[in-house]
Amino acid sequence: MIDIEKIRAETPGIEFTTHVLACGSSLMPKKVVDAIIEHTQLEAQMGGYEAEARKAEELNKIYDIVAKHIGASSHEIALMENSTVAWSHAFYALPFNSGSRILTSEAEYAANYVAFLQRAKRDNLTIEIVPSDESGTLDVNALESMIDEKVGLIAISWIPTNGGLVNPAEKVGQIAKKYNIPYLLDACQAAGQMSIDVKKIGCDFLSATGRKFLRGPRGTGFLYIKDKWLSTIEPAMIDHFGAPWIRKDIYELREDARRFETWENSYALRAGLGEAITYADDIGIGLIHERVQLLARLNRKLLSDIKNVQLRDIGTEQCGIISFSIEGKKDPKKIVDQMSEAGFAIGLVEPESTLIDSEKRNLPTLLRMAPHYYNTEEEIEKTVKQISLLL
Ligand SMILES: Cc1ncc(COP(=O)(O)O)c(C=O)c1O
Repeated sequence: MIDIEKIRAETPGIEFTTHVLACGSSLMPKKVVDAIIEHTQLEAQMGGYEAEARKAEELNKIYDIVAKHIGASSHEIALMENSTVAWSHAFYALPFNSGSRILTSEAEYAANYVAFLQRAKRDNLTIEIVPSDESGTLDVNALESMIDEKVGLIAISWIPTNGGLVNPAEKVGQIAKKYNIPYLLDACQAAGQMSIDVKKIGCDFLSATGRKFLRGPRGTGFLYIKDKWLSTIEPAMIDHFGAPWIRKDIYELREDARRFETWENSYALRAGLGEAITYADDIGIGLIHERVQLLARLNRKLLSDIKNVQLRDIGTEQCGIISFSIEGKKDPKKIVDQMSEAGFAIGLVEPESTLIDSEKRNLPTLLRMAPHYYNTEEEIEKTVKQISLLL
């Protein structure tokens, strides 16, 4: 059982806000804030380079912490400033033959899709959407039927930004493995709300962010690159950290995933990320998942009891993100603003964030809620009640 009282006592933000938007950026535990401040203070006292040197051992351990959290090895981890940068580093490094096909999911995130478009234009690729089944989940049989020798990449969002859908990441991994196709998984919304085991999933690359369900600081993320790629993959951009300049005409790529990193980084934020993942692991990601599921079910039930509210989540398996719309002329942005004035954090998601899915389902701007394990049942009730008062 999660000790909610203790967790809440360790979460300073709950005093100031009723925050039900972990899919945006969640409330950091005090330990995370302390780690960031402590390192920043050390930098102020002795200088940034000197602080890094003083804390080198602890800072290096962050790779072990991230690796353990997702079932990887430390040398397969690169620390990044967000999920998009992590994802892009992997994507732009992949070699494609002209005419290659990229297979992706209906609810793919805008940042990923525009990158597909750019490389499609530049490298003569095609982007093809794997259809979903009637529940809205990516259809693995359809995926398998689309495979041929021209498929150069399967890249999907495990959990999209616009709702509760959980795509079958592991089943997709089995197909990718069967046909030996590179598999890039966007785990941005999965990290911190459910267990991640890259070996079980069978992905080649996985990207995630720190600030959402992991409860880390903004400006953090990480990239997993499966070991087998490390001997071949060349980053699209390098500097002398990822690729030391060893002779006038020669650079040599680092042997680990850190070949994707650059020389300069925010060590204070990294310290915060390490603390956030340790905090989640100390609680237990299984327990976190259970509680997020429980609160999400309550949240959906309460919302569905409001007459004008329409739940928009799809899929057979659903996660802690809840998307809904309001019938009539109510402006969702105004609702979010009014909620904020009343001390509640809920959010919006625009159709452009997941354009293919939004067009298919004719989605308007949606409202989003995402309870995390530190929320109480009373908070969810209070938040939904407040929404109902605004309608
Ligand atoms: C599914 C998904 N992928 C990627 C991202 C991008 O993450 P970041 O803002 O950390 O780059 C988001 C952000 O909301 C997301 O929801």
